[in-house]
Amino acid sequence: MDHKFPSIIAIDGPAASGKTTVGVLLARKLNYLFFDTGIMYRVVTWAALKRLGRVDLEEDVTRLAEQVQIDVQPPSLADGRFSDVLMDGEDVTWQIRTPEVEANVSQVSAYPGVRDAMTAQQRRIGQRGQVVMVGRDIGTVVFPDAELKVYLDACVEERARRRFEELEHRGELADYEKILKAMKKRDKIDSTRAVAPLRPASDAVKICSDGISAEQVVEQILRLAKNASI
Ligand code: DC
Repeated sequence: MDHKFPSIIAIDGPAASGKTTVGVLLARKLNYLFFDTGIMYRVVTWAALKRLGRVDLEEDVTRLAEQVQIDVQPPSLADGRFSDVLMDGEDVTWQIRTPEVEANVSQVSAYPGVRDAMTAQQRRIGQRGQVVMVGRDIGTVVFPDAELKVYLDACVEERARRRFEELEHRGELADYEKILKAMKKRDKIDSTRAVAPLRPASDAVKICSDGISAEQVVEQILRLAKNASI
């Protein structure tokens, strides 16, 4: 019996399905690297908003995606962040979580050239192994051969409620109905785009996190990881 754990654990799913919370806890338990690929698309979106003032110039945004240095470092501040996110050395950890980015990131992540640039970086990082990688297309496109693929879902109302609470917790003004509407829109763009749409890989294990805690989801994934290693 071989007890080697899956080297790459892919977790995909829609916005606010709990991927980050679950992924961080899981990586901690396994002593794996946690890597949230959504951060990369958010940084490119923030870079486009700041440097181009718009996100609809596909060629310019793609060039930015190819050039911008995205770095993720251990947290330097205890303000609720899981990590520091750096854009060309500048701390943009919270800028990439603003409604401005939320409203534009789906458009940016639908550009094929942006996806190619991000996918190449993600493969480089994942190939080192012992990584929990979360996103939308990790099991389908980035690492279709990952030994363990999880598709984490929750109903849209529950996900909007989580996002609402996250914003309130950070002291930001939040409107549940607006968040719900924006989330439905983002789900639609993410799952209907031509390149790497959000969908479970055929061999992904689907977990619905409605009404269960992140810890319980992590336990389920750990059981799957153990089974995958036998
Ligand atoms: O997981 P998130 O909400 O931080 O992701 C932000 C956006 O990035 C989301 O609208 C879809 C996109 N994304 C993607 O297209 N592919 C990934 N692997 C990760 C995120």
